[in-house]
Amino acid sequence: MHSRVSDAQEQSQKPASGLHFHNVKPPLVDQREEILSGLLATRKSVSPKYFYDEAGSRLFDQITELQEYYVTRAERSILEQQGRAICRYLTRDTMLVEPGSGSSDKIKMLLQHYLPASYAPIEISEYYLERAAYQLQRDFPELVVHAVCADFTSLDRMPASVPEAPKSAFFPGSTIGNFERGEAVQLLKNLHRMLGPHGKLLIGVDLIKRPERLHAAYNDAQGVTARFNLNLLNHIGRILKRPFDLDRFRHLAFYNKDQNRIEMHLECQQSHTMEVAGQTLVFHKGETIHTENSYKYSVEGFETLALEAGFLRRQTWTDRDRNFSFHCMETV
Ligand code: AVI
Repeated sequence: MHSRVSDAQEQSQKPASGLHFHNVKPPLVDQREEILSGLLATRKSVSPKYFYDEAGSRLFDQITELQEYYVTRAERSILEQQGRAICRYLTRDTMLVEPGSGSSDKIKMLLQHYLPASYAPIEISEYYLERAAYQLQRDFPELVVHAVCADFTSLDRMPASVPEAPKSAFFPGSTIGNFERGEAVQLLKNLHRMLGPHGKLLIGVDLIKRPERLHAAYNDAQGVTARFNLNLLNHIGRILKRPFDLDRFRHLAFYNKDQNRIEMHLECQQSHTMEVAGQTLVFHKGETIHTENSYKYSVEGFETLALEAGFLRRQTWTDRDRNFSFHCMETV
């Protein structure tokens, strides 16, 4: 059964099984304002959430297959080898919430070991969310899915149309690394609030490693990451109703050792201006639009950060080469 809902009443009349959609996507006008203020700042930046339109989501899927991009492989190997043990840490009979669920691939590895009371993927890309939800229902017909189309970065509770239930959270992929420290703490605080006392969080975190390895992962030989980065301009161009000339920018990614982070930028190759919504955007040759940070952590470093948000680390698993870590955290 499939119901596209934004109305609590309609939702509550549906039987507690099957597939339910909840749409709380932010209005376009807010997105326009957010993008413009980033492009008008002295140091230009655009949030990495704008990578993920349909084309960007596909490019990200390709990134995860790249030989240089160890992140997904390392994480998968942990879930494959330790999935059963990891699931033992999750509380049964809870709604399992996954912020930024993308194609919901990794959850399938957990579903082999345990079936939560329901699964609630939260994803801003409708394309990803719908495709993933239908596939999940096909592969796990007994699973109840509440698919939430929303910007998870500003969500500290589920939409009213989602039935009340005790919750656990699954946050893989090291997405937490794409947030500044303060933002990451705030995001974990939001999750804390959603989970309540003794809530379990299973979170994937990329580990600090050799800079050369990191550099290669974000500068792949096939140029997929470059296309992913540049595609952000196509996406924001559609939102701003003003297309960007992609030939005027190039992909730039490097490891900032002092901050333990990969930085991705779009570097302007040719000075030019653009008129958008009555404002003039000025781009100077050599200046960059900062599009993403990808922070890398030590186990202890992440533990300290999570503690600030009220999470205690209960257990950690890593892959054989210690590229990646999975933590089971509990709210205090
Ligand atoms: C989604 N996120 C964890 C990826 C990362 O590695 O920071 C996004 C990405 N950017 C470039 N390649 C992959």
